Amino acid sequence: MCGIVGAIAQRPVAAILLEGLRRLEYRGYDSAGIAVLGPDRELRRIRTLGKVARLRDEVERQPLPGTLGLAHTRWATHGEPATRNAHPHQCRDRCLLVHNGIIENHEILRRAQLEGGHRFTSETDTEVIIHAIFDQLAAGRGLVDAVRGATDLLVGAYALGVIDTQDPERLVAARKGSPLVIGVGFGEHFIASDVAALLPVTHRFIFLEEGDVADLTRDTLQIWDALGHPVVRPVRESTIPLDSTERGSYRHFMLKEIHEQPRAIADTLEGRLTATRALPEAFGNQAETLFAGIRAVTIVACGTSYHAGLVARSWIEGLAGIPCQVEIASEYRYRRHVVPDGGLFVAISQSGETADTLAALRLAKESGYAALLAICNVPESSLVRESDLVLLTRAGPEIGVASTKAFTTQLVSLLLLTLVLGRSHGLDEATEARAVALLRSLPARLEEVLALDDAIARLAEQFVEKHHTLYLGRGEQYPIALEGALKLKEISYIHAEAYPAGELKHGPLALIDEDMPVVAVAPNNALLEKLKSNLQEVRARGGQLYVFADYHVAMDEVDGVTVVKLPETDDLIAPLVFAIPMQLLAYHVAVLKGTDVDQPRNLAKSVTVE
Ligand code: G6P
Repeated sequence: MCGIVGAIAQRPVAAILLEGLRRLEYRGYDSAGIAVLGPDRELRRIRTLGKVARLRDEVERQPLPGTLGLAHTRWATHGEPATRNAHPHQCRDRCLLVHNGIIENHEILRRAQLEGGHRFTSETDTEVIIHAIFDQLAAGRGLVDAVRGATDLLVGAYALGVIDTQDPERLVAARKGSPLVIGVGFGEHFIASDVAALLPVTHRFIFLEEGDVADLTRDTLQIWDALGHPVVRPVRESTIPLDSTERGSYRHFMLKEIHEQPRAIADTLEGRLTATRALPEAFGNQAETLFAGIRAVTIVACGTSYHAGLVARSWIEGLAGIPCQVEIASEYRYRRHVVPDGGLFVAISQSGETADTLAALRLAKESGYAALLAICNVPESSLVRESDLVLLTRAGPEIGVASTKAFTTQLVSLLLLTLVLGRSHGLDEATEARAVALLRSLPARLEEVLALDDAIARLAEQFVEKHHTLYLGRGEQYPIALEGALKLKEISYIHAEAYPAGELKHGPLALIDEDMPVVAVAPNNALLEKLKSNLQEVRARGGQLYVFADYHVAMDEVDGVTVVKLPETDDLIAPLVFAIPMQLLAYHVAVLKGTDVDQPRNLAKSVTVE
């Protein structure tokens, strides 16, 4: 979703801004723009539809000299993807801004501004902000006050970077509801939507809080909080290595991230297990006492993170014996719900900036839950900062829009949570010790599954011409089927749906014919025989079956049935093992179809607006 980069430096900034945009490409966007204030105080702006590479080509043709500038990748919300709607937006050659977020009262503001004589050049909600800032500047206010005055009029979410041509030594930034970081250099300052954009120029960052306004010059930095009081926010050193956001020799980030899973899981477990137990301290010092009083768990998340929550429900109810409900954040936040006594609220999010998940957490905060826990991959994210308890997944930066290593590290974290909760709810030591041993075996087990990459690439050829695919699973494999279907539709644009196999007769069986491949996730568990009868129903109707099964599952390859054998796996960790071939299948189908695997159309990595 929209990406912001800004710089006020001692050196030309155009190349820094473009590299920042390239590093934010993963967020998803459909147009890009850059503006630099030249030495002659002329604002030069270039905007293009499509990829950042195209913008870079344009900048090569018409260089943008200057040491103060802003750049942006836009993911269309109000107004179609078009050059006129791309940021930066400006008002009468005086001031210019980039914006991430949505202004909900833009129509009212727009009407008033049209009456006041402003001319609009875009259909965006953003343009009202720069006209409002212009009005404040025209009334004689300085840029910081002008930004504050304008943002007072706004209802909605924003991260902003603003420049005034008549005050060329200053860049002003503000955030509310959308993420924004400041990069601290030597004699220069930067802003960006996330740390990744600025790693080539600095490793020192300040994370703005809700309602903050920041005034950046080359040598100075001042921040005011939501109430207008000056504040000092800590400077944090980022430990993310520069090359962790590079693709290396992999063809796509998604493939790199799929193959990073054994390492990411080992990192996520590091220091959180003894030989036989999961350590409650991993969730914070208060966790053990708080968890002892937990009587119910509510998990809220979006997308892939929601699927991780669905797997966890089987674990939390099955092992810890605690009732657990799982809900999509955008639904949870808009319905009246009952908060259980002794309720633990768990928000799961890779980015920690997903608007609906954050809103759900804020709602939960006021609703009387006994504790709020964030399971998140980004230590500096809003979700982490606003939760009582935190368990960080240690997947490292995930760039591909389709989530892979974030998912499996979330699963591992949720299994840790189950064990720690289970301890105070009667889970016996032997079961915990067995689960710990299985967790430890996971990296090696997943390496074995990744060795199936070539076989799955060959299998993918049979899906390329299809328009629909049905995924089936039972029990804790149903969420894996859901995740497999989500992966396939996200990146290959093939319509895919997942059903609990037992529901087949209640509708989807009507869709089965030779053009509808059916993918089944079939570990060797108590539900296997039932699943096999479901699969017979598919075969009897001419459906092509692709069964991913444990090595020892007795299932023969007959006409119309393809069986992919996975290493023998204990039930408990089977969801992690079976998730990998689902990811690989979607990846290879997408590659064969020639889609934009890492940045699929219309999708964003970090959904920071509703
Ligand atoms: C977007 C991403 C998904 C992700 C979902 C939730 O849709 O494309 O990959 O699962 O947001 O994101 P979160 O960062 O909250 O896990």
